[in-house]
Amino acid sequence: MSKYQIPPFKIKMVEPIKLITKQQRANRLKEAGYNPFKLKSEDVFIDLLTDSGTGAMSHFQWSAMMQGDEAYAGSRSFFRLEKVVKNITGYKYILPAHQGRGAEQIIIPELIKREGMYVISNIHFDTTRAHVEIAGGRAIDCATKECFDLDNYYPFKGNFDLDKLEEIIEEKKKENVAAIIMTITNNSAGGQPVSLENMRAVNRIARKNDIPIVIDGARYAENSFFIKQREKGYDSKSIRAIALETFALADIFLMSAKKDGLVNIGGLIAIKDDEELFKKAQIRIIPMEGFPTYGGLAGRDMEALAVGLEEALDENYLKYRIDEVRYLGDLLKEAGVPIQYPTGGHAVFVDCGRIAPQIPYDQFPAQAVCNDLYVEGGIRGVEIGSLLLGRDPDTKENLQADKEFLRLTIPRRTYTFEHLNYVANCLIKVYKRGKKLKGLKFTYESPILRHFTARFEPAE
Ligand code: F0G
Repeated sequence: MSKYQIPPFKIKMVEPIKLITKQQRANRLKEAGYNPFKLKSEDVFIDLLTDSGTGAMSHFQWSAMMQGDEAYAGSRSFFRLEKVVKNITGYKYILPAHQGRGAEQIIIPELIKREGMYVISNIHFDTTRAHVEIAGGRAIDCATKECFDLDNYYPFKGNFDLDKLEEIIEEKKKENVAAIIMTITNNSAGGQPVSLENMRAVNRIARKNDIPIVIDGARYAENSFFIKQREKGYDSKSIRAIALETFALADIFLMSAKKDGLVNIGGLIAIKDDEELFKKAQIRIIPMEGFPTYGGLAGRDMEALAVGLEEALDENYLKYRIDEVRYLGDLLKEAGVPIQYPTGGHAVFVDCGRIAPQIPYDQFPAQAVCNDLYVEGGIRGVEIGSLLLGRDPDTKENLQADKEFLRLTIPRRTYTFEHLNYVANCLIKVYKRGKKLKGLKFTYESPILRHFTARFEPAE
């Protein structure tokens, strides 16, 4: 047997990709203001910007799309999707949304009942944090300390710090805490899993303090697989049973279905039993996303999602998926490239603070490595470091991230192990010349969400 799971599928349709010359890549990057977000995807050979909506659908999903019922109200495709989601979650009320942030904009304002209320998460994803703040709330992260130790194995680096969670609730007073959000897997911590033991403890703390629990579960199937692999007592349980046990610990499920829904667009809201909240969400969703039986999706999108949700629970698929990420991580680690270990579910996080230590944080070492990797091999990753973090709203100083990460995010069922060999070889070359890389300085910087539109020039 191979050390890594052989892909449990074969390829039926292909999309050609092209590697433009090194000189062209250098020119394109300069034209893009040294910001890979501004590159044309045609100029990218291997795109590891995100795993969101970038995966390949199966022939079952494509054929289901032909059965989409495009009725504005009461679509058959909605009822099919609803049945699947009810089965997976055990929740009573389901609403589709156009993607994860669409689901967030419906539910989060209903939870934050007063200005200044707190939301606590293991780590908020950026859009989740933004919706908390837009609704007048304040987002507090509460990650376990193991998550910041990149080199040593720990099975559940996505966990909550439970002592800190209790301290925060005590300090802020429970009536001021609008919700606890369990992000599974914990994207910003490297796609690291959260254990059921930890979620059970979060549930006990929340129940004691009468605080609702939300699962931000874009990658809940990957999380369930890690639980099966690593948590005591779960190795003989099915992924579906583990997922059901996970959902039983929360009240609301928000999902960017562009990840473990195996679709290119889609989102979900599921509510366990709070009828009042469901009624409010049904009203809010109409002007924001669409009528409650389509929520911004076409009937065919809901068909593809109904099938994709089931496929993502297949154990062979999940083993292959997690192994593909682990494979890239192993290649890099064996060559000495500093990465977060063990690798998470959807990406390899490369510690660029150690690759290019000469670059100060406010000249963005991970962006410099990311750019050099593009010039080296036409590979696009994404900076998750001080550039993403932005400036202090009061002092306007650049904030310094804990780690300067380059995220190499692996789309689902899209690239082969050969592609990953190539990625590793290119990054190893960049790593070897890391200490010669130069940082970047802004030529344009927007006041918020600067990483998407910023322009730079090389710093001297
Ligand atoms: N929650 C988590 C944990 C996410 O990772 C994302 C998206 C969202 C919510 C928002 O969902 O994009 O469908 O609106 N993450 C993507 C990423 C964009 O690249 O990590 P969305």
